[in-house]
Amino acid sequence: MWWLAHGEQEVPVGAEWLAPREQRILAEIRYTKRRVEFLTRRWTAKRAVAMVLGRSLDAAALAAVEIRHHASGAPWVAVDGQPAAVDVSISDRAGWAVCLVGPAGGAGGALGIDLELVEPRSDAFVGDFFTAGEVAGVRRLPAGQARDEAANLIWSAKESALKVLQVGLRADTREVEVDFGQERRPDGWAPLAVTGRDGSAFAGWWRRDGVFLLTLAGRRQAPPPLQLPGGGHLVDAVPLHSWLARPCV
Ligand SMILES: CC(C)(COP(=O)(O)OP(=O)(O)OC[C@H]1O[C@@H](n2cnc3c(N)ncnc32)[C@H](O)[C@@H]1OP(=O)(O)O)[C@@H](O)C(=O)NCCC(=O)NCCS
Repeated sequence: MWWLAHGEQEVPVGAEWLAPREQRILAEIRYTKRRVEFLTRRWTAKRAVAMVLGRSLDAAALAAVEIRHHASGAPWVAVDGQPAAVDVSISDRAGWAVCLVGPAGGAGGALGIDLELVEPRSDAFVGDFFTAGEVAGVRRLPAGQARDEAANLIWSAKESALKVLQVGLRADTREVEVDFGQERRPDGWAPLAVTGRDGSAFAGWWRRDGVFLLTLAGRRQAPPPLQLPGGGHLVDAVPLHSWLARPCV
């Protein structure tokens, strides 16, 4: 598997790198925040897929790599109008997008990735959305950075697992329980596991890069993804909220 991150400031101004269908979707988006998020996710995902497939990264070649959606909202990739032999998962937060790419059907099927900022999560949030075991684990930690990191990590891993299931937040987040290790590999990844109340199991990884936290999940244990070249580095990435200056297009 491979992953790539890009910030909104890296997205080119023109739209010729978007497929015609993506250009039509863009034309319908009235809110700057949605527009910037859409463009940053598309720029990141297309470049990641193109690199993994060994294709050119020029605008015309990127336009031929299209991120489409199942009825659930889950993404799939078409290249030159045909389903491509890759699975992807995409996420964005605060002006930065990430894309995870794996071989189609690899690691047991769909993938999930989620990007979060490490920010305070209220006790009510934790109580409402986490399992009893997760709540106890978070409340055991000292208030501040340690507790915020754990709460965002658990939330993010739930989102990653629910993306693997292709249900997203239609599901009750307490249906899945997150367990994570703190021991990081030299490349920054640490293991996590997610267990569903129905017996389903997901294996994944997490990393803390600066103020960002990244999780990913799949059906089976797989080595951590490799970072593709040419992207941004979350470790010194600054959260961006440029849309605030001009909320509507
Ligand atoms: C999956 C979901 C939790 C992600 O929401 P989020 O945290 O705000 O957004 P992220 O930036 O992390 O992820 C967005 C990406 O998730 C992916 N995604 C959306 N629905 C998905 C699903 N059911 N399964 C897997 N991935 C999904 C898409 O690739 C999307 O990016 P794209 O539309 O540009 O391709 C959310 O979209 C969801 O719950 N969707 C299903 C329910 C739904 O459609 N509700 C209507 C909107 S509230």
